[in-house]
Amino acid sequence: MQPLRRVVTMRRMHPGGIDRETTLRTQVGIIGGGPSGLLLSQLLHLRDIDTVVLEQHSREYVLGRIRAGVLEHGFAALMREAQVAGRMDREGQIHEGFFIAHDGIRERVDLKGLTGGNTVIVYGQTELTRDLYEGRDRLGGVVIHDAEDVKPHGIDTDRPWLTCRKGDEVLRIDCDYVIGCDGFHGVSRKSIPKDSITEFERVYPFGWLGVLSRTKPVSPELIYARHDRGFALCSLRSDTLSRYYIQVPLSDTVEDWPDEKFWDELRRRLPADVAAAMITGPSIEKSIAPLRSFVAEPMRHGRLFLAGDAAHIVPPTGARGLNSAASDVHYLYHALVDHYEKSDDRGLEDYSRKALARVWKGQRFSWWMTTLLHRFPANSPFDDRLQQTDLSYLFSSRSALTSLAENYVGLPF
Ligand code: FAD
Ligand code: PHB
Repeated sequence: MQPLRRVVTMRRMHPGGIDRETTLRTQVGIIGGGPSGLLLSQLLHLRDIDTVVLEQHSREYVLGRIRAGVLEHGFAALMREAQVAGRMDREGQIHEGFFIAHDGIRERVDLKGLTGGNTVIVYGQTELTRDLYEGRDRLGGVVIHDAEDVKPHGIDTDRPWLTCRKGDEVLRIDCDYVIGCDGFHGVSRKSIPKDSITEFERVYPFGWLGVLSRTKPVSPELIYARHDRGFALCSLRSDTLSRYYIQVPLSDTVEDWPDEKFWDELRRRLPADVAAAMITGPSIEKSIAPLRSFVAEPMRHGRLFLAGDAAHIVPPTGARGLNSAASDVHYLYHALVDHYEKSDDRGLEDYSRKALARVWKGQRFSWWMTTLLHRFPANSPFDDRLQQTDLSYLFSSRSALTSLAENYVGLPF
């Protein structure tokens, strides 16, 4: 049974007139209605723990973002536990391997064979977020959209609260805990005093230009390509929806890349047989994402806990970002359940240490994949040779391939 939420409506004067102020009471106040915030709130709801999610954008805006495509099996298990996995299990594609293309050839990484049976699921973040919203609607979960100027308060006390504006209403949400799931640019991490948080960062001198097109994917399995002209990735969302990326300089804009130019450049970076088989069509989405590695430590300050991109970012090369967010959610979910059901706070006390241990492994892997496959403008011929040798070692050593595969399918939580 969900605990009662007190709603108190008051009037508050300000120079421009009268605003309504509403106070809500919840157990866990969540900032950010992306995948991390929605998944945590859904999981907690199923254990009778009350949450309110504050999202600064509209639902349509959140669902308009095209991002991740590859889910590890631990993430899929969490979706099932959250009772929102029906469509993912029906429509998502199980991938048992992927290719790395280099020097005109393609070599396969047999994820299933190398990891003793583990695979990944190709299912878009957009669809997954839609499923989470439907799950929240079904259970009557509270997700407040278009919440402006969200602020956490009193995080150093045991009675924190959140405030925001919604239209002409001021909302105050009293809670036991605040969870910052508001992505890299969110307000949560920034509300931690500077001397209580350490940030580690690497910014890469290029971005990924991504194109979504309603065309048959060139390959049923992903192809990551290293080429002297730069990295390329052939991915997909379904049998009729393709997602392609190419490495571009940070100074480029989407306007610099009309569709034909994009397809020509993509084909140039792929082995000839793949390029010849490429079916092209009009782009239905095109965007440039800068690449960054970032970790903020610790992932907790008082009663504020950070999860997902709010605490860490990886370059997308290893498909770790959303998956690392899911492991934070896993640890937090269990820690909060132990707190409310057993008055056991050990999980909360240990959250940051446990989450960071896995986060850093995802960081190392994403940095390694990025370094292996991209063209770095400052690379010397020596660096190029090392990159080539790393690749040739990888495909000559089952141990090296196993290490890649076990990181790609996701290390245990
Ligand atoms: P977000 O998705 O950023 O959600 C945060 C939410 O908080 C947003 O809805 C935002 O509007 C809201 N918000 C922000 N500020 C505030 C505020 N002040 N108040 C209220 N709400 C706020 N990961 C993978 O695992 N596999 C992949 O294949 C993969 N591919 C990717 C490809 C690209 C091109 C990119 C850019 C990313 C990719 N990622 C991938 C990473 C993945 O998309 C992110 O890690 C994931 O979105 C993180 O989820 P999140 O909920 O933590 O943060
Ligand atoms: C994607 O399909 O968007 C995708 C797939 C794999 C990655 C990154 C992005 O490593």
